[in-house]
Amino acid sequence: MAKVTEIKIAKTITQVRNQIKIWQKEGKSIGLVPTMGFLHAGHGSLIKRAVAENDEVIVSDFVNPAQFGPDEDLETYPRNFAADTEFCRKLGAAMIFNPEPSEMYDNPKAYVNIDDLSDGLCGVTRPIHFKGVCTVVSKLFNITNADRAYFGEKDAQQLAIIRKMVKDLDFDVEIVGCPIVREADGLAMSSRNAYLSKDERKAAVCLSKSITLGKEIIHEGMSAKQLIADMSSVIENEALAKIDYLEVVDVELLKPVDKIDGPILVAMAVYIGKARLLDNFSWKPEETITI
Ligand code: PAF
Repeated sequence: MAKVTEIKIAKTITQVRNQIKIWQKEGKSIGLVPTMGFLHAGHGSLIKRAVAENDEVIVSDFVNPAQFGPDEDLETYPRNFAADTEFCRKLGAAMIFNPEPSEMYDNPKAYVNIDDLSDGLCGVTRPIHFKGVCTVVSKLFNITNADRAYFGEKDAQQLAIIRKMVKDLDFDVEIVGCPIVREADGLAMSSRNAYLSKDERKAAVCLSKSITLGKEIIHEGMSAKQLIADMSSVIENEALAKIDYLEVVDVELLKPVDKIDGPILVAMAVYIGKARLLDNFSWKPEETITI
């Protein structure tokens, strides 16, 4: 059951900090759910978990310009703050933080960057993306002083990067990863699904079909090349789909592996029309996967 019936709307860092001070004086634990808004059931699962595990929950709702490249979809990224506020209120979040870009960035010269982990996978087509993510997430940790922060496993590279950043920079926050939430036909939920036309929406199911096949055929000792070829063929059969990458990497450092013998992440980005969609699964030896 939701704990609060009202939600506070904060537009400034000072408003958030003032509220945090009150909650901390009261000895309350604070959960943070960082989002870029246009919330869906995937975000809902993070918010519900945060509400269950913390006394107070802040959802940040900020389309972060620093993580978009010059030719990317910053301007068209879907937004609906009124609906987001109501969504968070119903789930029991205590505050939604919706700053203007100028509140977060005042001619900045300091950034947070991460070596190696941001080079591959999404980093190839989005070279500045993870610098923007690490910077805004660090700022949100500093602004909120959260005890726990919740991120979706759909963005597996982002989650691995944030875990490493928190470890390397000694942020005093527990990172909680939450499973991918899927539509009835398997498509992983994403705000960018809003870009899909009717035909593209049908075509987009090829990502999760490829994931399902991958989970069925993966086994210890299999070559990564074989797994990639079999999974890619499902996507290549779909005329509207174009693979950006489909890779098998180790779960921590995200380096490509040749043979499947340790904990791995199988991750893909696929263009369906102008939408670039992500999906993945992780696997470790002797694991029984239920699909
Ligand atoms: O996953 C997202 O929506 C964003 O990358 C995040 C973590 C909110 C940072 O802007």
